[in-house]
Amino acid sequence: MTDFSVAYRGKKVLVTGHTGFKGSWLSLWLQSLGADVVGYALSPETEPSHLTLLDLDMVSVKGDIRDFSHLQRLIKDVQPEIIFHLAAQPLVRRSYREPVETFETNVMGTVNVLEACRQTPSVRAIVNITSDKCYENREWVWGYRENDPMGGYDPYSASKGAAELVSAAYRRSYFNNAEYGKIHETLLATCRAGNVIGGGDWSEDRLIPDIVRAVTAKEAVTIRSPNATRPWQHVLDALSGYLLLGQKLLEGQSEFADAWNFGPSDEDVLTVKEMCSLFEKEWERTRFNFSKETPRLHEAGLLKLDCSKAHTLLNWRGRWHAQEAVIATAEWYRAYIETGKILSREQLKKWMDT
Ligand SMILES: NC(=O)c1ccc[n+]([C@@H]2O[C@H](COP(=O)([O-])OP(=O)(O)OC[C@H]3O[C@@H](n4cnc5c(N)ncnc54)[C@H](O)[C@@H]3O)[C@@H](O)[C@H]2O)c1
Repeated sequence: MTDFSVAYRGKKVLVTGHTGFKGSWLSLWLQSLGADVVGYALSPETEPSHLTLLDLDMVSVKGDIRDFSHLQRLIKDVQPEIIFHLAAQPLVRRSYREPVETFETNVMGTVNVLEACRQTPSVRAIVNITSDKCYENREWVWGYRENDPMGGYDPYSASKGAAELVSAAYRRSYFNNAEYGKIHETLLATCRAGNVIGGGDWSEDRLIPDIVRAVTAKEAVTIRSPNATRPWQHVLDALSGYLLLGQKLLEGQSEFADAWNFGPSDEDVLTVKEMCSLFEKEWERTRFNFSKETPRLHEAGLLKLDCSKAHTLLNWRGRWHAQEAVIATAEWYRAYIETGKILSREQLKKWMDT
């Protein structure tokens, strides 16, 4: 499943959001496959930044996804064959503070990407990254399936549900699978992955970066919602789903132009507290304060994805269980903090050899 080099070698690929956590790992992976990668995003928000540390040989364009004319010009100039759209405001709590920016970036940003693609015939495949939070969360124990209704309580989740609806409308109206090869040449798919962990994430308000910051400062980390469950997975597992889907679209297999869940197996759907104890085993300096108060801002309690579709039709499966994902993540940050070395290339190789 992972010999993506045939699909991507020499391909012109645009990654939006390449300065972020997932986008930087995806750019590394694509570059190692021999793709010609161009990135479009805001400047890295965090210091350190994984993209900067990777020092990739790629074209990095600074731009705002909300600026349609800039994005359109870029896509026309670059003439990409495939676009991975990851640029977004991805944080739930920030979305409560900045709802307008969140909706503009996540919803209109998606419209802008799809509209610019519609006007650029070189684009044969679009892989739009939304979220597991796009579903109307019913706080039930079952995993959400791709045909469950979109929804979202908080602005971030609703913006991702809306980005899915925008994608479905563009697919039906302009990139219709039944008309592929007749009146258009573009296939569009969306990906809903779970809570992704790995080295190189320094975002605010995320569990692993919060732990790493606390360990570095020799402080205890306060955990807001210890009993919330999330589908945890390593970033490389989620990205392998995106790459596999992109490959199918590039091959012109229109039946894959659809929505896909890429989550971990059931045993890796853990509470935040369980995730903390896995981390503690790998990094004994970690100390936690588990909050007993109900957080003021609502966040989903139970969240799980049903990935039968990706397992059965794409033959996709994650390779690293939560424990292996935590080991790799802790190892990455320890190496970086203690020696300044980044293990991303070694870990990519290790993942491929798994
Ligand atoms: N990290 C997770 O656990 C997770 C889970 C589910 C879905 N996702 C989705 O995956 C994608 C990537 O997430 P991430 O974790 O790498 O986030 P991140 O915050 O690390 O990166 C976000 C990227 O989007 C770019 N961006 C933000 N606003 C922009 C704007 N107005 N114009 C242009 N670029 C802009 C940033 O510059 C950055 O490159 C997002 O769409 C996110 O919603 C992430």
